[in-house]
Amino acid sequence: MATPVQKVFQSAYKLFSRVTVGSSSFNEHLREVTVLASKLTATDVNFSFHDDPETQRQVEQGNVAPAVYVHLWEDRVLSMGIFVVRQGCRIPLHNHPDMHGICKVIQGTVRVNSFTPMSPVGLDIPKHISQNAKQSLLPLLRKKEQSQFSPVTTHSSITLTKDDPACVLSPSAGNIHEMVSVDGPVAFIDILAPPYDHTTGERVCQYYQENSSEDGTSNSSNGQVHWFRCVPPPNSFWCDTMDYTGPSLNIP
Ligand SMILES: [Fe+2]
Repeated sequence: MATPVQKVFQSAYKLFSRVTVGSSSFNEHLREVTVLASKLTATDVNFSFHDDPETQRQVEQGNVAPAVYVHLWEDRVLSMGIFVVRQGCRIPLHNHPDMHGICKVIQGTVRVNSFTPMSPVGLDIPKHISQNAKQSLLPLLRKKEQSQFSPVTTHSSITLTKDDPACVLSPSAGNIHEMVSVDGPVAFIDILAPPYDHTTGERVCQYYQENSSEDGTSNSSNGQVHWFRCVPPPNSFWCDTMDYTGPSLNIP
C-alpha cells in the first residue's frame, strides 16, 4: 500500500504531468492534491529537526546556513523537498515564475507574506482596488514601467503550523513570498511544478527587495500596493542540505 508521502507525490505527479494547467479538471485535481498534502506529517517523511545551542549561536553569527533543504525528488515535472528555516531566519522575498507551489508545514511555525505581481501598465490591477484608485495609479505605473521597480499587491500574510492545511501558490496569485520562522525552526514540505530551471534559464528564482523609500505610492489607501525591485541572491541566504531518510518515491 502506498505511503502517505507516496500518495501525495503520485497524485501531484499525475496532475502536473497529465492535466492541462487552468482546465476545470486541473483545479479540481489540485484541490485533491492539496487535501492529501494537508494530511502529511513529519512522521510520514521520517523527519525532525533540532539545532544544538552552539549551532544556533553560529546561525545567529551568520556562520551557518539559515536554511536546510532535503531533496526528495526532482525531474522536469516537479520538485519535492523539505525546507527548514532555522530559528530567527527567513527565506527572503523570491518568486516562482510560471510555477505552482504546494507547501505543508510539518514542524514549527512559519509566517508567509505573499504578494501578487501586477502588470507594469496596470492592466492587472486587482478587482478589489476601486476604479478611482486605478485611475490614480496608472500614471505612476507608467512612470515605474521604465524603472527597476515593479508593483505588487499584498496577497496574504498568514501564520502556518503543522495543524494548518497546505497552502497553494499559483503562477500569478501569491507568486512572490517570503517565509519567516517563528519561535524556533520551521520545516515544510514543498512541491514546485514545474521546478526551477537554472540550467536553461527558463525558470530562474528571482529575489526582491521592497522599496521602502518611495514617494507614497505604497500607501494603504490604494489596496496595499508595494514596489519591489529585483536584487541578486542575498549573500545572507544560502542552504545546507540533509539526506532524506523517509519512504521512497516512485513515478505513477
Ligand atoms: Fe518559495
